[in-house]
Amino acid sequence: MPNKDDANAKDAGERDEDVVLSRDASAQTTEDILAAAVTGLKVNSSADSNPNLRSKQVLEHMLKELQATSGKLRSSSSKFAFWSTQPVPDLDEKVEANECIEPNKDINDIQAEPYALPSAFAWNIVDVDDAEELKDLYTLLQENYVEDGDAMFRFHYQPEFLKWALQSPGWKRDWHVGVRVVKSGKLVGFISANPGKLRVYDQTIPIVDVNFLCVHKKLRHKRLAPVLIREITRRVNLAGIFQAVYTAGVLLPKPVATCRYWHRSLNPKKLIDVGFSHLTRHMKMQTTVKLYKLPEQPQTKGYRRILPQDMAKAHKLLEEFLKKFSLCPVFNEEEFIHWFTPLDGVVDCYVVVDEEDNLTDMVSYYCLPSSIMHHSVHKTLNAAYSFYNVSTKTPVLQLVTDALISARNAKMDVYNALELMDNKEFLTPLKFGIGDGNLHYYMFNWRCPTMKSEDVALILM
Ligand SMILES: CC(C)(COP(=O)(O)OP(=O)(O)OC[C@H]1O[C@@H](n2cnc3c(N)ncnc32)[C@H](O)[C@@H]1OP(=O)(O)O)[C@@H](O)C(=O)NCCC(=O)NCCS
Repeated sequence: MPNKDDANAKDAGERDEDVVLSRDASAQTTEDILAAAVTGLKVNSSADSNPNLRSKQVLEHMLKELQATSGKLRSSSSKFAFWSTQPVPDLDEKVEANECIEPNKDINDIQAEPYALPSAFAWNIVDVDDAEELKDLYTLLQENYVEDGDAMFRFHYQPEFLKWALQSPGWKRDWHVGVRVVKSGKLVGFISANPGKLRVYDQTIPIVDVNFLCVHKKLRHKRLAPVLIREITRRVNLAGIFQAVYTAGVLLPKPVATCRYWHRSLNPKKLIDVGFSHLTRHMKMQTTVKLYKLPEQPQTKGYRRILPQDMAKAHKLLEEFLKKFSLCPVFNEEEFIHWFTPLDGVVDCYVVVDEEDNLTDMVSYYCLPSSIMHHSVHKTLNAAYSFYNVSTKTPVLQLVTDALISARNAKMDVYNALELMDNKEFLTPLKFGIGDGNLHYYMFNWRCPTMKSEDVALILM
């Protein structure tokens, strides 16, 4: 991720050399990789509270990592010093099975204490019910989370959104894992897991989705991310869950699927002003504004915001729809209610109900603004993201047009959609333009054949 915006990063409160966990994995020589593993070993054992047990586990673990990295060196690729030690398929592996990579562990064999951190840092559960702690998380992400490739926009998750995303049914405090600077208390790292069920081809498995992995800009490239990933894995394993699903813009071993984002302008003038989109060669601003103009109000008879009494029917509608895909969540009704109950500025859901009170269609989006990093006037880009849409009666173009109108009326500047599920049917006809980044879908401790983006029906925020 380019990092031109260092001026925006507040001081993490530590000098860089205080936080060396190990050498950067971009190290190319055997000596470098050995040094990296040995440094990691020293760090881990120095903070060991139960020296005998911990040193053995750490030694075994480091040995494994060392073997894997030297194996990689022999095969002329020194990439993925961390990921090559994890239960994920190799990038060039051809997978035909649909199965776990490692069998479930006995809980007694799982390390009981957290992974060691350098002494200047400490693990901390971020209590998102506490306004101050929620604000700490909000600030960490606002200043350090995902940016576009040109460092012009950065996701700006709102506190209410974070609570919604992190507190779905079954959520655990223990899985909101922060790293703080001991002296100042500043939150400088975070990772989370959310429980659920996932169907992958013909198998339905308990799983967590791992999200909000973030390391403060001043602490980048010091191998803190692998420690966060190991720690969340340990905590999730202790609860008897051994698979995870996650998405990332970066290429890691090995995507289950890769999807492209598409963008539909709702406020073209602002999008052009801030550099999100550009005037095409033969089109003036006025013509562009006209091109994206939408009716004042949704047009479909019976289209309205979802109500509590719709939940059971809408849940069934979505459940039926998801059957045709190869990767999808399996929501129970409580989870459905959590994810689809409208929440101002967070998530919205509309249904179409006919005269006989049949619920025939649903359309939904979540709201995730981005900070505009270098603009004198506009500071926020308001973006809606297509969530789950089901059309059984209303033509999909009409249904999604109504959702675009609802989003535009809610002051969204752009409506984004991934090229997955049946979304291809509406993207081009409704004037979405293709984006420039890929979103890769990954599974941890699971191998399965790669799927096409239209077979994916999973949205992680
Ligand atoms: C992603 C992030 C936490 C990585 O931290 P970092 O300081 O750059 O990297 P570290 O030195 O700690 O660790 C590097 C390892 O993490 C892996 N990694 C980097 N980004 C990753 C991601 N998004 N998911 C999983 N692993 C990732 C690298 O591949 C590398 O492992 P390898 O040696 O096997 O290749 C950090 O860049 C960040 O906070 N970025 C902004 C937010 C973000 O993009 N979050 C991820 C959202 S999907």
